[in-house]
Amino acid sequence: MYLLRGPLGARVPQRKWFISCLKAGCPDFTHCKDAVAPHRIPEGPTPAGMATSHDAQLTSGYAKARRCISVMSNLLEAVWEMLVTLGRVVYFWLEAIFLAFVPTSFIAKDISGQTVLVTGAGSGIGRLLALEFASHSCRVILWDVNTSGNEETARLARKSGATVRCYTVDVSDREQFLDCPDSMIVRTMQVNAAAHFWTVKAFLPNMISRNHGHIVTVASSAGLLGVVGLADYCSSKFGAVGFEESLRFELETLNKDGVHTTLVCPYLIATGMFDGCKVRFPWLLNALDPEYVSSQIVDAVLRNQQLLILPRLLYVFMALKGFLPVKCVSVICDYMGASHMMDTFKGRKTD
Ligand SMILES: NC(=O)c1ccc[n+]([C@@H]2O[C@H](COP(=O)([O-])OP(=O)(O)OC[C@H]3O[C@@H](n4cnc5c(N)ncnc54)[C@H](O)[C@@H]3O)[C@@H](O)[C@H]2O)c1
Repeated sequence: MYLLRGPLGARVPQRKWFISCLKAGCPDFTHCKDAVAPHRIPEGPTPAGMATSHDAQLTSGYAKARRCISVMSNLLEAVWEMLVTLGRVVYFWLEAIFLAFVPTSFIAKDISGQTVLVTGAGSGIGRLLALEFASHSCRVILWDVNTSGNEETARLARKSGATVRCYTVDVSDREQFLDCPDSMIVRTMQVNAAAHFWTVKAFLPNMISRNHGHIVTVASSAGLLGVVGLADYCSSKFGAVGFEESLRFELETLNKDGVHTTLVCPYLIATGMFDGCKVRFPWLLNALDPEYVSSQIVDAVLRNQQLLILPRLLYVFMALKGFLPVKCVSVICDYMGASHMMDTFKGRKTD
């Protein structure tokens, strides 16, 4: 609560009801029971004979004062809101810096006995994540379109004693009777972007009602920065990034603080998916080790970390992209070899 001082030096009503009076268009602050007399404008028409020039001056003075107070109050409110926002930004910034130095084991949540669904579990990062979560005594459900790969992951995961269920699922197929899309572009969009909707739609309502759960979106650094020759892949990953970000904001707005999200944006990973890609400065930015990526993802889940960009150097690129002019970003990307990265792309033989 604030007490504002009017320009006439009179004590004006408390801010809360004062604003409600202003909003309600109440001409004389009648919402206020303890309004102080000098600020009240007489109700109803001025009785005949009473309208002196002094009264008129006084009335217009009150109106001006009220307008001035209204402007001041809005200004104060805006400044206050800005300061609070700034305070929160600084607080969360410091918190992130502090947490970066705290070992995961200190702050890790207990996920043993939890059910973890891994899509694309038949190979690569999906397989490694399944094995990591199985070693944390989670019940693991494996989805992949590739049955044999998925079964192999299940066999490996069971070795750690975890309960494992594996299903052959095409995550892009919203309705099983639909035919596969004709073009690879549509296919890429369906697997990398649209599939998030179908999977999350199936599980989120239950998570929200229990205020418990964690959704991990494996996007890519190609979902933050475009790459020559990867327009379809980048579009689909930008879609996944936008999806995750909006989902996180929605959950925050709903106050569902028990449902967590983690957005993962890795650079190239040596799983074979991007075999043959040319990297100009391998000593600076080389394909990541899949084991390293999966362990970082599990760490991020245990810490309820919202964003994981790998390697960390890419945070610098993202910051540069944020404030440098577009042409400067192009020059840097070109220098880093991004323009010719896909020239020698082979991919995985079975892809
Ligand atoms: N490998 C990289 O360089 C790299 C870089 C950044 C991001 N990523 C992302 O990380 C994720 C995992 O990549 P990876 O290298 O482990 O890939 P991967 O090809 O080794 O594994 C992908 C798995 O998904 C399965 N899959 C494909 N389409 C499916 C569908 N419609 N329904 C169900 N399962 C399906 C495949 O059978 C395969 O087992 C992908 O989203 C990829 O885009 C990869």
